[in-house]
Amino acid sequence: MNKTIIVSNRLPLQISIEGDKLNVTPSVGGLATGMKSVHAEGNGIWIGWSGITSEDLDSDLKSKVNAKIENAKCRAVELSSDDIDDYYLGFSNRTLWPLFHYFLEYTEFEKSHWEAYKRVNKKFAEVVLNTVEEGDTVWVQDYQLLLLPQLIKDVRPDITIGFFLHIPFPSYEIFRTFPWREELLTGMLGADLVGFHTYDYERHFLSSVKRIMRLEVNFNEITYYDRIIKVDSFPMGIDYNKFHDAALAHNNQNTEKSELQKRLDTHINEDNDKKFILSIDRLDYTKGIPNRIRAFENFLNTYPEYKEKVRLIMLTVPSRSNVPQYQKLKSETDELVGRINGEFSTVSWTPIWYFYRSLPFNNLIDLYTSSDVALITPVRDGMNLVAKEYVATRTNQDGVLILSEMAGAAKEMNEALLINPNSFEDFATALNKALKMPLEEQNSRMKILQKRLKRYDVEKWAKEFFKTLDETNQLQEVVISK
Ligand code: G6P
Repeated sequence: MNKTIIVSNRLPLQISIEGDKLNVTPSVGGLATGMKSVHAEGNGIWIGWSGITSEDLDSDLKSKVNAKIENAKCRAVELSSDDIDDYYLGFSNRTLWPLFHYFLEYTEFEKSHWEAYKRVNKKFAEVVLNTVEEGDTVWVQDYQLLLLPQLIKDVRPDITIGFFLHIPFPSYEIFRTFPWREELLTGMLGADLVGFHTYDYERHFLSSVKRIMRLEVNFNEITYYDRIIKVDSFPMGIDYNKFHDAALAHNNQNTEKSELQKRLDTHINEDNDKKFILSIDRLDYTKGIPNRIRAFENFLNTYPEYKEKVRLIMLTVPSRSNVPQYQKLKSETDELVGRINGEFSTVSWTPIWYFYRSLPFNNLIDLYTSSDVALITPVRDGMNLVAKEYVATRTNQDGVLILSEMAGAAKEMNEALLINPNSFEDFATALNKALKMPLEEQNSRMKILQKRLKRYDVEKWAKEFFKTLDETNQLQEVVISK
């Protein structure tokens, strides 16, 4: 039977060694969370890195790790610590990530990192080529593997290849600064279908293809030698029912409460007027975390009546802590939270509850269902699935989502309160509006958002992608037979 091969830098499960034990944890971030449901449904295999570098694996450990991976319908690409330093921490996260998120000041153009990126993309290609069989479809994910589609196409032109970018594609003016811009575009054009979260990213990509590669672009089709490549936008959804059903089960009186939920309840019971504002992100400079904390401080100063009445619950999930910008961000965040809590706290109130860790799924549901407002304000974000998860868990259709215009998700979530994350005034006005919003208005906004997210969930997203990929293939056949 034909299979679908998903390829991404990380596998959905991450393995680490603890003493003589192997620890298996789910991967964090939008890609892993979203694609997991697609992988679970389909008949296929997921290729990626296990989380352990090859130096840490003797042959005994290796077979144990591989057994765990195979059990989860996955296959590992072995990466050395040099690969991780130069391809992952280096080129992927000190070049492509900041550049594509418009952080030019953080972007490094380091030739040795570029060489490592090429080398590692070839390693991924080798595993894919050893796995793929006639009739299979390969679906390559994200910015760490931009060269992979062409590396596969060169050897197996018969294989259908899709590519999806989970982060923004920047405007031509940004992309053109990149020294190896033509090679990157060529890599992506190995795919038959190139997908983005929003129409804007698609437009930016097409404009770079036209101006840098000087290729013919007809609406959203690129003619490239004897092939036609289709480019389209597919806003990624979530596994809506999983979140909604978990929230329903959580709200059921008979369910045993977690320790976290008991703590949240104590706070709510103290004073019915008290409100929770929730923010959840990976600790990443694109998420605008320090800015959000400062904006919260400004809000408390602008509307002092909310002192002792609201609490910001901030969950930041550790990420890429070996990259210097992330280390700086961690200290800045710690300092800001400390300063603001020091400035405003009273005997009975701390304005910010700050968690730096990842939480299990049931605790996420505790947070989503207990929060009156979700404050999701990245300065730049490909999509942002947390905003969608919050909406899906509001089974009583109450609660307000405040969302940054700079998140891809904003394009489909007009009923949220959309703000410019650089404006403290926008923050303060939106928070005040959200905290005062009549229940009927909350309900009517939530209802529309929920209807849309339920209809266009992650399964539908993947189906649409595959349907378009199929159509692209038929297009190919017509071109070849002409
Ligand atoms: C974002 C990226 C993913 C990445 C995730 C976590 O969602 O689009 O490709 O996997 O962040 O980052 P990490 O560097 O830990 O894989």
